[in-house]
Amino acid sequence: MLRTSPLRQAAALFQAAYGTPPVAAASAPGRVNLIGEHTDYTGGPVLPLALERRTAIVCGPGDGWTFLSASDDRPDRRYVDERMAGRWSDYLVGVVRELAERGAAPSGAQVAVSTSVPIGAGLSSSAALTVAAARALSAFAGRRLSPAVLADVAYRAEYHHVGVRCGRMDQTIAAHARAGTALLFDTATGDLRLVPFPGRLWIVETGVSHKLTGGELNARRRECEAALARCRERWPGLASLAALPAADLSAAERLLPLPLARRVRHVVTETARTRSAAQALAAGELEALGRLLVAGHRSLRDDYESSCPEADRIVETAVAQGALGARLTGAGWGGAVLVLAPKERESRIVAEVVRDFEATFGRVPAAWATRAASGVRREALGH
Ligand code: GLA
Repeated sequence: MLRTSPLRQAAALFQAAYGTPPVAAASAPGRVNLIGEHTDYTGGPVLPLALERRTAIVCGPGDGWTFLSASDDRPDRRYVDERMAGRWSDYLVGVVRELAERGAAPSGAQVAVSTSVPIGAGLSSSAALTVAAARALSAFAGRRLSPAVLADVAYRAEYHHVGVRCGRMDQTIAAHARAGTALLFDTATGDLRLVPFPGRLWIVETGVSHKLTGGELNARRRECEAALARCRERWPGLASLAALPAADLSAAERLLPLPLARRVRHVVTETARTRSAAQALAAGELEALGRLLVAGHRSLRDDYESSCPEADRIVETAVAQGALGARLTGAGWGGAVLVLAPKERESRIVAEVVRDFEATFGRVPAAWATRAASGVRREALGH
């Protein structure tokens, strides 16, 4: 039997809770970052693609703001000028505030949300939510915002209102993705380039949930800012950590105390790997791409120290079983691993990874495949 789509589920939830059908809807994808980890807030490139799994949001007229998700027992009534509450609906309050700044928010709405993006798995469920919300609510207010504006609204909601010191990768891919392509996003220039990604990727979830708000991501970001300040004493014109020439990396490592030296080594080497990975993908050189993914994982593990034993085990098993490459994706400290495998052997490799994980950690990890999917879209409601 086909699983109900998030859109149908959100519409059914809306009808059941509010007793009337919704009038506007949109959906946006989660993402998997092929490579370019922790380089979006350090001035480097990233290479994400959109998942086939999406978040749908539907809305209709309301007096004030009421938000409901499939996992709540009752609608959450919020005031957009109140303090953040530490709940998922904070993300939507942030979106409403940002839309209002642009004159693109309705005066109130009833909202329902449903998703097939795993939450807290490093697959960007938050950007799927905020980008879909920006599209649905602005459409309900009679406005059509460009993908760039939707991404900005969603980024500002998360960064300024919820307080996650994220970069712009997740919102950018959720807003700009095209099916069958990865997106090379140069965060220093804002340049976007589509790179064909015709195949499939496997996602293996570690089942270790990361908690971003106020967590390790914010701490790493502070370390990177401290490292940049020290580097600028030596290289006053340095625009960002990612802009440090590879030839100056050893000098920077001597200049910086630990662990800052290792953080900088990750950012500089990851920047080079990401550019090479985009070239390899464009040239169809999947073996070269795979090697870069594995090197990227080891850099996260050893230099950025953002991996976890479960992710390390999945990567090493996948590679030992003949995967082209594998890597922890997303912020880290848990989350999911992507596996790039030769088509004819992918099912066997992933089955072996799952078997080994169960033998090691005593539970079966979720594992599923995705193609590169499309970005945010307005959805039709068939009543
Ligand atoms: C999180 C952030 C992104 C990015 C990644 C790490 O997903 O939201 O902006 O910084 O971590 O690459």
